[in-house]
This record gives sequence, C-alpha cells and structure tokens, in this order.
Amino acid sequence: MCGIVGYVGNKSAAGILLDALEKLEYRGYDSAGIALTDKDGISVYKTRGRIKKLREIMENRDQSKIDGFTVGIGHTRWATHGEPSDSNSHPHLSKSGKVAVVHNGIIENYLELRAFLIDHGHTFCTETDSEVVSELIDYYYNGDPVSAVRRAEVQLKGSYAIGILFSDYPWQIMALRKDGPLIVGIGDGENFIASDIPAILKHTRDIFRLGERELAILTKEGVTVMDKYGERIEHEVEHIQWDVDAAEKGGYPHFMIKEIMEQPDVITKTITPRVEDGRIMLGLRHITDQDLSMIENIKIVACGSAYHVGVVAKYFMKKTLRIPIEAELASEFRYDDPIIDEHTLVIIISQSGETLDTLYGLREARIRGARTISIVNVVASSIANESEDVLYTWAGPEIAVATTKAYSTQLILMHMLNWHIAGVKGLMSQEEIAAAINELERIPEQLRGILESVENVQYLSSLYFNSQSVFFIGRNIDYALSLEASLKLKEISYIHSEAYAAGELKHGSISLVEDGTLVIAICTYRPLLDKMISNIKEVKARGAKVIAVINHDDSETERVADHVIRIPECGVNAVPSLTIVPLQLLAYYMASHKGCDIDKPRNLAKSVTVE
Ligand code: F6R
Repeated sequence: MCGIVGYVGNKSAAGILLDALEKLEYRGYDSAGIALTDKDGISVYKTRGRIKKLREIMENRDQSKIDGFTVGIGHTRWATHGEPSDSNSHPHLSKSGKVAVVHNGIIENYLELRAFLIDHGHTFCTETDSEVVSELIDYYYNGDPVSAVRRAEVQLKGSYAIGILFSDYPWQIMALRKDGPLIVGIGDGENFIASDIPAILKHTRDIFRLGERELAILTKEGVTVMDKYGERIEHEVEHIQWDVDAAEKGGYPHFMIKEIMEQPDVITKTITPRVEDGRIMLGLRHITDQDLSMIENIKIVACGSAYHVGVVAKYFMKKTLRIPIEAELASEFRYDDPIIDEHTLVIIISQSGETLDTLYGLREARIRGARTISIVNVVASSIANESEDVLYTWAGPEIAVATTKAYSTQLILMHMLNWHIAGVKGLMSQEEIAAAINELERIPEQLRGILESVENVQYLSSLYFNSQSVFFIGRNIDYALSLEASLKLKEISYIHSEAYAAGELKHGSISLVEDGTLVIAICTYRPLLDKMISNIKEVKARGAKVIAVINHDDSETERVADHVIRIPECGVNAVPSLTIVPLQLLAYYMASHKGCDIDKPRNLAKSVTVE
C-alpha cells in the first residue's frame, strides 16, 4: 500500500526518484508525486495517475531547475482516505512551506488531530489522513526537526512509514516507521530510503531495515539512526545478493508470467537447503523438537492467497498430525478472542512479511503465549522479525501483484513443517519422511513439463475469456485449490468468479448456473472422484460448460466434461503444487486476452499495510 522513496546525494534527485517509484508501482498506482528541496525551499510535483504521467508533467517544467535538486522524496499512492486526485496525492507540503511528507500507512486518529490543528490555526486542503502528519510536524517545529518529528509522533495512532523534508535543512531527509516497511540504502556519497529493495538496487546493494519507531536522518555523508528513546543506534548492513535482473521482466511481457515460469527453480531453492540425506533440517532457532512434540493444536493465520495456502495445508496436516488444525483469516483471527495457549502453534504465512492484519495476528498470538513460526519471503521483514522462528521461502522478489511463486513455495514449506512435526511426534518414520521429501524434490521437473506445454491452457483461455462468471468447484484439498484458482482469475481478469465446495453448490448457488456458464471442476482428489463426477453432471444438466482438471487416466471424467486440463501423474503430496500452476496460467491468459493490466490490477496493491 503506497510506495515511498527518498534520495540525498550529489546527483539530480528527480530522475532517481522517478525510476525508484516505477519499481514500487506494484504497491499502489493511482497517483504519484515528488518533493525536491534546495536552499530556496521545497518544490512539489504531483498528479493523479501513474508515474509515467508524473514524468511527463515534470519534463514540461523548468528542466534545469528540476535537474539542480539533489535531495527529495517521492510517493506512489494506493488511496485509502480520499479519492485519487491531484490534491490528495503525496507529498503533502505544510501550509507554511516548511515541511513536506510522504506517508505509507493509516493515521487512525487523523480526524481528532485535524480538529486539534484547525483549532490552532492550521488549514487543510485534502481529504487524506496523511496531511495531518505534515501539519502536525509543522505545528511542533521551532527550528529543531528531530524534536518536531518526535513530538508529532507521540500523537500519531496507526501505522506509518514516513519520509520528511524540512525547508530549513535542505541537505537532509528524515524517515520514521511503525508497522510499515522502510529500508535505508547506503551508497557512496549518497543515501536512500525506500519501501522495498528493488527501488534502489540499481544504486546500492547495502541496506538495513529501520526498526519500529526508529528515526533516521540521512545526508549524503551518512545516516544517523535513533531509537524511540532518542538513543543513537547502529544497524548491521545487509549486502543484497540477488541480482537486479531478478526484479526485472527478463524478456517476458509481464512479471506475473515470469514469476509463474520461475516456480520450478524457486521450489528447488526452497527445498534444497533444508534437506540432508532425506532428513528435514528446518533450522528453527527457538522452537525445539521437544516444544513441537508438545503442540496440541495448530492455527494457520494469513490473508488472501497466503490464507489459501493455509487452507490446503489444513487438509494435509490434519491427515498427518490428527490434532485440531484451523486456517484463519488474519483480519478475523485477531478480533475473535482466539482460543490459543502455549500448546498452540500459530503458523503465520506472508509473502511480504508486512501485511498489517497478519502482523497484528502474530502479535495477538504472542501476547496469548502461543508458539509462533512464520513463513515469509521478504527477509528481515516485520513478521519475520517478530515471530519466534521464521522459515524463508526463497522465491526472490515477487513484483506482480497477483502472487504465484510465493504461494507455491509457501505450500512447499507447509509440507516440510508438517512432516517435521510428524517426525518429532513419532507419527512418521524417517523412511516415510524421506519418501515424502522425494515427491517434493520431483515437483520442479514435473512443473517444467507443464510450463513447456501451455497450448491447451492458452486454447481454453481463448474460448472462455469473455465469460461473465466462472465457478471453481472441488472437494477436500481440491476445494482449497479452487479458492486460490478463483482468486487468481478474478483479481487479474475482473471476471466474476466463485469457489465452492462441490457438494455445496446445490444448496443455493447452482441457481446462478445457466446456459454456457463456465465451471472449472478440480478432480484430483481420488477418494471423492465419483461425487465430483455427479457434481459435474448436475451443472452440465443446467447448461454449464465444464473444464475438468484431472491427474490420472479417467475416461468417465473426460466423458462428462467438455474439456480437460491434465496434470502429470505424481505422488499425492505433489498434487496441489502441480494442480495450481495450469490454473495460474489460465487466469493469466484469460486476463491477457482481455487486455488487462495484469501486473497492476485495478484497486489492488502488492503489500497491504493497512487494516
Ligand atoms: C493475491 C495476493 C494477496 C496476498 C495477500 C497477503 O494474489 O497476492 O491475496 O496473498 O494480500 O499478502 P502477504 O502474503 O504479503 O501477507
């Protein structure tokens, strides 16, 4: 939700900031802006629309003036308070012209602060919550920027990652964060802030993450960081190993298809470092095998696709561990007085590691004494830092808003965690674990086969991309996969779609099935195949067109369905990982036929750092 950047150095800041914002557009893209500063004050350029439009606007202004600025901050917005408009765009410049702010997050008490500031003579010209930040800092400013920011911060409730300019200090930028991502990049005679690494990777690989309520002051000479008590602290600098190419499209038309194609490799990267001679080595640092053997119930807490991984995992973990296991939406979990204690393992799943609902779910679990392990893609993100133990998915940067490779690697780690717990509880022998691992290790090769022959899926997408409404049905684990397949389709193609447990359709929703309605029936769960065939017949009898997803020779399903998507024969543990991929592709090609903005679907953002 919103991307922020900042630059201080010797080079012209505008181009650097615009390039960096383009790399953050996945976080929000309904408006954009930049504030630049020098000894003459702060200049703001902002507009509704994408970075491209901002770039055009800036190119038509006094270029030599713009090129002269070497310090600035920038923002790409995902609107929460106030519609996308020029005035609601960031940066917000205080009415005195002294303070400019870019903000990612939500100031929950902004109405109260607004009223307070109006009482003290301040005026407002936007509908945003963020404008109170620039005005409040301005209100407290009496020549000392640190004191002004700290006094303002005490009054802010909510979440924030903020970049700040003071016109009296045109040689520096300041940054502050609470419950939102913010990294600091260390360059040679230049320094940066950004919401995410790809934004600045072209300029530096040396970064650190600002901690909770830490305040950073950046000049071209260096970076000073203070904790919430005002004490100076040092951060260890992390050298980013992955290449800038990993954050580029590499010849593909969209990040989404590139990331779908990367799945075999990233699955291998996620499995390999954790297996030694058929044994699972998770490398947990705080939760011991003894602790895991005492676990009596498990909650999997996440949002969106990560939650869908939890639903798939619930089915296979329940089968293996025979203890109560639930997948919970993080936004519900936190407010539902969860029944958890020290015998509960809460598994938190998050690609970004910054999803606010999920982060708050994690905190709730910790307060209530549960053991917590997170499965996270972004190293050292808030969720990774705050959980007792973390298992990283080695998926690399995921840029497309619709997740694919993160989902797949999360699924792999859920299997490994399941078998590890089963091992320590004495429910699986070492030989059984080794055999199960062997199934996982074969997934990348089988996936390559699927990814090399996409013609059938492309053909089906060309037949059905004009559908008004699509139903995904399945039973047991196939139902869990339907949830994700349906989300993928709707989020990028804007085709209305629903996922149903196949047996549930006839309890109401079948009334929506009419001549030509597309039903995608996932039929990999063999124990209930007969029931699925009956469900397919039910919708066919109402005029539906059916694509069946099958993983075995099954003439009966092929006979009743209009089309099939065939998954290679594989071990039962590999089925979910192989089944989801053609359905990701189907969503991708349908959206592509419709000409949708696949990597940046409307109204969405990659990292949801607001509640
Ligand atoms: C859908 C998608 C979202 C995320 C959800 C959680 O394609 O990407 O549903 O899965 O917003 O995000 P993370 O995993 O970053 O916590």
